[in-house]
Order: sequence, then C-alpha cells, then structure tokens
Amino acid sequence: MNGYNAIAIDGPSGAGKSTLARMLAKAFGFLYVDTGAIYRTLGLACVRAGIDRRDAAAVMELLPKLDIAIRYNENGEQCMFLNGEDVSREIRLPEISIAASDVSAHQEVRSFLLEMQRKFARENNVIMDGRDIGTVVLPEAELKIFLTASAEARAARRYKELLEKGQNVTYEEVLRDIVRRDEQDTNRAAAPLKKADDAIVADTSGLNLEESYALLCDIVITRLAVEPEAAR
Ligand code: DC
Repeated sequence: MNGYNAIAIDGPSGAGKSTLARMLAKAFGFLYVDTGAIYRTLGLACVRAGIDRRDAAAVMELLPKLDIAIRYNENGEQCMFLNGEDVSREIRLPEISIAASDVSAHQEVRSFLLEMQRKFARENNVIMDGRDIGTVVLPEAELKIFLTASAEARAARRYKELLEKGQNVTYEEVLRDIVRRDEQDTNRAAAPLKKADDAIVADTSGLNLEESYALLCDIVITRLAVEPEAAR
C-alpha cells in the first residue's frame, strides 16, 4: 500500500490493548498510537470547560478551539498535549474515562479526529489501538487483532493498576465503570466497538501478561512475516 505496515488492535476497555501494543511496538520497531488518549484529552477539555459532553453541538463548538496534539518523548512514549499543556497523567483519571466515552459517541467528533489518526499510519509503521481502528480508521491495515477478555478479568487488572498508582477505588466501582463503558461503546450508533470481519480474535481472559504477549507476538510474526528487532 503506502510502504508501511499497520497493525490495528481493537477491543473493549481494559483488555490490555495499550500495554500489549506498547510492548509489540517496542519489539518490532513500530510507532505506537493510542487513539483512546485523543478522546480522553477531549473529554478532559469538556470537563474543564464545564460543557455537557452528551451535547454534540456543544462539544463540536469547543473542538476547533482546542489544540490537541500527540507528541513522543525521548523514550518514545506518547504524550498528550491540550493547548500546550502535558495532560498525559490527568487523562487517566477514572472520571475522564467516562467523559472520553461520552464524547466519542458523537459521529461529528469522530470524523473531526479521523485525519489526525490516519496521518500517523501514512508516515510510519504503526500499531494503533482503539475501538474502530480495523473497521473505520485503518480498514486497509495489514493485520487486525480484536483483543478481548471477560469484564471481570479486565476489571481485576484495571483495579490492580489503579491501586498501584495510589488511586482510591474499589473493585466494584471499576467493574461497574467497565460494564458501563462497554455498553456505551458497543451500543452507540457512531462507529460502535465491533470486530472487523477480517480481524483475528485474541481472548486473554485466562492469560497473564507474558502469555498474552507471546500470543500476539506469534500472530504478528506469522501474519506479517516480520521478526522482533532484537532477533534480527
Ligand atoms: O482506550 P481508552 O479506554 O483510553 O478509550 C477511552 C474512550 O474512548 C473509550 O470509552 C472509547 C473511546 N474510544 C473510541 O471511541 N474510539 C477509539 N478509537 C478509541 C477510544
């Protein structure tokens, strides 16, 4: 196609997409693009501006006034900037997760943010994760993976992660958030979370991180005929 390879990883919240995509990107020398972070940054902007995230017109009025940028730091990590401020940490707060889910339900918002995402794939080998990468953003991706796990398994992992970050949450709250977001992301009219017909399903419910990574590595090596950089 354009000389670059694209790997699309879609799936529900907390399936391990970002952790695994980041590991794969590092191993295979691809650029990792976390598209959820873009919606999170917009969600944060709406919270700060005090606007109703469910009101598409209000969100669309705000959007062109914002400078949302993805930058990569010296360690190759993706950082999100909102009007020049690094908000990479703040967008991970649980209240921003649901704000992101709210703003991402609007078709106009999704269309506005599409080009920003596609540009990366035109200029790099990318591993991009999100909800609609294989179906909408990069329908021509060379490899599509639908990464999933049971809601309970995902909640348990996210809970552990948040505790480690010192955040004060209960497992029940995390599970409830995950179920709510799944429902919202799956049932919305605009680009719902859906497996692309040609995506490979990877279910990591019973797998730990190393096992999940090994599974995905195998898929990448077999399907793209590439080797991890360390093995070259
Ligand atoms: O992957 P995440 O949890 O950081 O995503 C935050 C929200 O953004 C999630 O609820 C769904 C939405 N999202 C989306 O609609 N499309 C994407 N490509 C990525 C995320």
